[in-house]
Amino acid sequence: MHTFLLLLILLSLIIPLYSLPFHQSHFTKQHLHQKNTTSSPQEYFEVTKPLPFDGLNARCKLPILTHNFSNTYGLPPVSVTYSPPINCTWTHVALEIQVSCRGEQYDRIAAVWLSGAELIRTSTAEPTNDGIFWNVRKDVTRYSSLLAQDNLILSVMLENIVNDVFTGVYQANVTFLYYNDNTVIVSPPLLALPSENYRMMGRKLKSLNNPLNLKVNYDKDSFDLEEKPADLIIPISAVGDDGFWFRIQNALDIHSKGVRIPRNAYRAVIEIYVSFHGNDEFWYSNPPDSYFKNVNDYEVRNRNPSDLCASMKKASAERGHGAYREVLVMVDGNLIGSVVPFPVIFTGGINPLFWEPVVSIGAFDLPSYDLELTPYLGMLLDGKVHSFSFQVADGISFWLVDANLHLWLDAGSVEVQARIRSSDPEFSLERELKFQGLDGEFEVEAERKTKTSGWVHSTAGNFTTSILQELKFKNSIKFSNNGTLKLVEQKVKDKSEVRIVSDAGQIIFQTSTERTYPLKITTETLPGKENDTYSMTTSLKNSIEEKKTVGNVQSTLKNNQESSGWMSVKDHEVLSGVANTQQSYSYKAGSECYSRNVAAENGTLLADTTSLLCAISL
Ligand SMILES: *[C@@H]1O[C@H](CO)[C@@H](O)[C@H](O)[C@H]1NC(C)=O
Ligand SMILES: *[C@@H]1O[C@H](CO)[C@@H](O)[C@H](O)[C@H]1NC(C)=O
Ligand SMILES: *[C@@H]1O[C@H](CO)[C@@H](O)[C@H](O)[C@H]1NC(C)=O
Ligand SMILES: *[C@@H]1O[C@H](CO)[C@@H](O)[C@H](O)[C@H]1NC(C)=O
Ligand SMILES: *[C@@H]1O[C@H](CO)[C@@H](O)[C@H](O)[C@H]1NC(C)=O
Ligand SMILES: *[C@@H]1O[C@H](CO)[C@@H](O)[C@H](O)[C@H]1NC(C)=O
Ligand SMILES: *[C@@H]1O[C@H](CO)[C@@H](O)[C@H](O)[C@H]1NC(C)=O
Ligand SMILES: *[C@@H]1O[C@H](CO)[C@@H](O)[C@H](O)[C@H]1NC(C)=O
Repeated sequence: MHTFLLLLILLSLIIPLYSLPFHQSHFTKQHLHQKNTTSSPQEYFEVTKPLPFDGLNARCKLPILTHNFSNTYGLPPVSVTYSPPINCTWTHVALEIQVSCRGEQYDRIAAVWLSGAELIRTSTAEPTNDGIFWNVRKDVTRYSSLLAQDNLILSVMLENIVNDVFTGVYQANVTFLYYNDNTVIVSPPLLALPSENYRMMGRKLKSLNNPLNLKVNYDKDSFDLEEKPADLIIPISAVGDDGFWFRIQNALDIHSKGVRIPRNAYRAVIEIYVSFHGNDEFWYSNPPDSYFKNVNDYEVRNRNPSDLCASMKKASAERGHGAYREVLVMVDGNLIGSVVPFPVIFTGGINPLFWEPVVSIGAFDLPSYDLELTPYLGMLLDGKVHSFSFQVADGISFWLVDANLHLWLDAGSVEVQARIRSSDPEFSLERELKFQGLDGEFEVEAERKTKTSGWVHSTAGNFTTSILQELKFKNSIKFSNNGTLKLVEQKVKDKSEVRIVSDAGQIIFQTSTERTYPLKITTETLPGKENDTYSMTTSLKNSIEEKKTVGNVQSTLKNNQESSGWMSVKDHEVLSGVANTQQSYSYKAGSECYSRNVAAENGTLLADTTSLLCAISL
């Protein structure tokens, strides 16, 4: 495989001036919520659509872990033995995590692994003295091949520090719920696929759902397309003492695991879990290092004791290396795919008052990213160990990355034949920097295009899978007013197509997914009235749009969050502030719609409406 690389660097005027700008950061609310505890605990939530089987009663319930995560920093994950409930027939499984916390605490990252395969990546909300609680439910049916096995190790990691100041202990319950969904509908002919890889799941639309007939729908069932779970899941993860995730510390830090793939695998998908922390928690807002270097040189020469918050400045200066990041996935050293992750903002991020009680998109259920690997099976089915590795382009400390390899096996043979036919990756990266003192503009644009195809000859036939992945990344950071005003704008567009063609040249299956993640953050930082304090006024717009076509079924998701407010800050503590957040979520699949709108201000939910009506599309 060869990579086309274009590097263009435009550098202009570098003149240092005075004072230092502040950056997106991470806060707690120690003093803010230290009022007397009069109210009952408040429920926090992430806006998302219900699970397809939420309306059914669970056949079986398996409470597997109850644990108080207090001083868990540096400890291995908490582990218990997992076996599915005896004598329970199920088709679908939900993982439920209930958490409660009271006091003062930072947001923490957490994950659940089964036999080293990650099932969910989540983060915690920052508590108050009145206490908060939340409930996360995730459809984990795709991990059925693991969930059906006995005596596996289930591990939960949530690193927390509890002391006199940070008193919050995260109390968590982890439960599996098993559903038997009989409403599964057989595949319509257009979706016929070798080995029935996909099936349609759906229920009759109740007339209640659309009493006004606002829209002309296909006059048929509502559909949710789901994939047949893989026959085998191989975790590509770390040993586990520090959690099963690989900790990636810099751009050169490569983590690998050797994997032997059964020779009868006819389909492969790699699912990547990723989160960013420390100096890269807000990677999309990091200016280039050269910007800080000049600012720091100037600071040393003109040390001004009345400057704001030295520690914060130091932290800011480490948050550099520009704003382009890409998680690279390699097999035997060859790049086979990449992910620019959705910018999940944890609940202490940017302005923690934005995330009360509605957390940011993805905070409780971080997205994972699938890459179709079927065309590469030709390189992988030789019975030898192959090295899967991860790297974060331009990354700084630190990233938590691991993956699950989902494999579908040919029950009718011990060995299938496969060959990669072509691979044609292209990559370009452009950076532009212009700065004068503390003001400046930084732009990065990157594009990656990968086209690969390969055939797999199994007992179902000889099918050629072609994939196309197109990634477009654009980020701009502008500082003005002596660096006190910062504007970050980013747009990520990720398009992928999978097409399966039969021996006779007939397209038998096609799917495409297009995701865009526009992000905009405006921050103004000014010195506060009291010494060592400053005030930050922020507005934020973060959204995800996804269009998916599987066979002849289309789905669209639009999830948009807008927040604004100000806060007064000392070190990393919020002293006071005002914040409001609006979120609109709408999902449409076939003739099924779900939408929810919420608004919150100063920690209180002002509006929360849900609708199952499809809006009139013009
Ligand atoms: C609680 O708050 C109320 C009104 O804000 C105040 O009158 C009362 O003294 C407070 N109680 C404690 C224990 O701080
Ligand atoms: C967790 O802590 C709470 C409060 O101290 C206590 O009531 C509960 O029993 C503890 N749970 C476990 C599993 O240790
Ligand atoms: C399993 O379930 C069936 C049907 O509910 C019941 O008849 C049978 O006794 C159960 N077996 C065990 C071992 O629980
Ligand atoms: C966890 O489960 C226990 C026992 O059912 C319950 O008392 C507790 O409230 C649960 N904790 C949370 C955070 O939901
Ligand atoms: C499978 O199909 C491809 C493309 O049509 C062809 O090149 C290849 O030889 C076939 N393989 C087998 C084993 O028939
Ligand atoms: C930037 O700082 C300089 C030097 O202190 C000052 O003269 C100028 O007015 C400031 N500009 C803005 C836009 O605040
Ligand atoms: C802030 O104020 C306190 C007391 O008012 C004083 O001791 C301290 O030196 C001041 N800090 C700075 C950086 O001016
Ligand atoms: C939020 O707080 C600000 C400042 O105290 C106030 O002006 C505003 O009315 C509050 N909003 C709500 C909904 O309470």
